[in-house]
Amino acid sequence: MKLKPYATYPFSSRPLEPFIRSIMASTQTPSLTSDIDDLLCSDSPRQQQNGDGESDSLSIEAAPNGNGYISPGRYLSGESRIERAWAHWTKLGRPKRIAAPMVDNSELPFRLLCRKYGANAAYTPMLHSRIFTESEKYRSEEFTTCKEDRPLFVQFCANDPDILLEAARRVEPHCDYVDINLGCPQRIARRGNYGAFLMDNLPLVKSLVEKLSSNLNVPVSCKIRLFHKIEDTLSYARMLEEAGCSLLAVHGRTRDEKDQKKVRANWAAIRAVKNALKIPVLANGNIRHLEDVESCLEETGCDGVLSADSLLENPALFAGFRKAEWVVGSEESHRDGELDQADILVEYLKLCERYPVPWRMIRAHTHKMLGEWFRIHPQVREELNAQSRLSFEFLYEIVDKLRALGGRIPLYMRDAHEVKVSENGLGT
Ligand SMILES: Cc1cc2nc3c(=O)[nH]c(=O)nc-3n(C[C@H](O)[C@H](O)[C@H](O)COP(=O)(O)O)c2cc1C
Repeated sequence: MKLKPYATYPFSSRPLEPFIRSIMASTQTPSLTSDIDDLLCSDSPRQQQNGDGESDSLSIEAAPNGNGYISPGRYLSGESRIERAWAHWTKLGRPKRIAAPMVDNSELPFRLLCRKYGANAAYTPMLHSRIFTESEKYRSEEFTTCKEDRPLFVQFCANDPDILLEAARRVEPHCDYVDINLGCPQRIARRGNYGAFLMDNLPLVKSLVEKLSSNLNVPVSCKIRLFHKIEDTLSYARMLEEAGCSLLAVHGRTRDEKDQKKVRANWAAIRAVKNALKIPVLANGNIRHLEDVESCLEETGCDGVLSADSLLENPALFAGFRKAEWVVGSEESHRDGELDQADILVEYLKLCERYPVPWRMIRAHTHKMLGEWFRIHPQVREELNAQSRLSFEFLYEIVDKLRALGGRIPLYMRDAHEVKVSENGLGT
């Protein structure tokens, strides 16, 4: 059977039923960074935190399962695969500013917020493929989307090709790439044998990529870390391309370099990977503001960049807004962008009212976005911490309280930069 190029599949016109499942309830929430191991690579489904209600999200349960899968059943020639990878990337508009996958943090409302402020593609948090296949509750809590949420990468961790394929098939109609997490460096990933620990078992990695690329109708992407030796990284990347990976995101740190605040990402190594491959390559690491995007693209030659940690405190990063710490020394060329983190939090909360998510995610984002205000007014943070059950009213009150206490912390714009805020939430 001859495959249609990805560019001709009608992704956006597939019927998607509105999803009548809200997932709201209040519970205790761990602080964002209290145990990043558990956050990043949890091996078990989380406690249900939500009740029922209505939302505008799309459910994979409600969507038609059969989408006319065309199982290739054989590999295309190398060159055709590369052409197809580029045709797909081009059809998506070659997005350059991409919100990275973040467990408990790159959920639908946050993705929509980042898209509004300049991100032109986004990843879901890592989903555990086995649990995803087994638990309807996990699926409906951890993966929601909507029609504005494109282009979308849905990321899984896995170590079994059949289970990964089963999970991927469920999300295939709702995304533009199914992504394999090959970069999680945390202890729990070592125990569960996935993420960056699959770097010790490359035949297994190859079989995961081959399984998806020869059975799915959406392309497969991978997110990797570096090996210590550049030659090992390059042969790893080439192997992934050969196995059918259509897009590679490279986090420019090794598996041992877990503290991204202390270790700078190695853009030279990312450049070497980009030069060695024919498929689109994305760079990840050290993107703190828009100028970093520009210099990273220039230094690495990559097709786009991912940002993670910096987006949590400043989801408007890709629109050119920067936090005060990135203005120090160049105050004269920056102005108050007439936006602050409390404004952004309010926008996020409104999105959460529309697209419900577990409260632990909302709590984590509140801490990140209001972090600097809380340092000035720690008593307000204590009030938040003391609240075991959250409500939107309570969170809006927190914002009002901070505003009344004064000490507004603006986000800044460089005079030269235009604000790239999109009205339709799709980014510009
Ligand atoms: C809170 C948090 C959660 C993360 N979860 C994931 C994840 O689910 N999958 C993944 O591939 N990487 C995950 N990462 C790593 C980021 O995607 C990214 O590779 C890393 O933070 C480096 O980018 P940065 O320097 O822009 O933060 C996470 C990072 C953070 C801060």
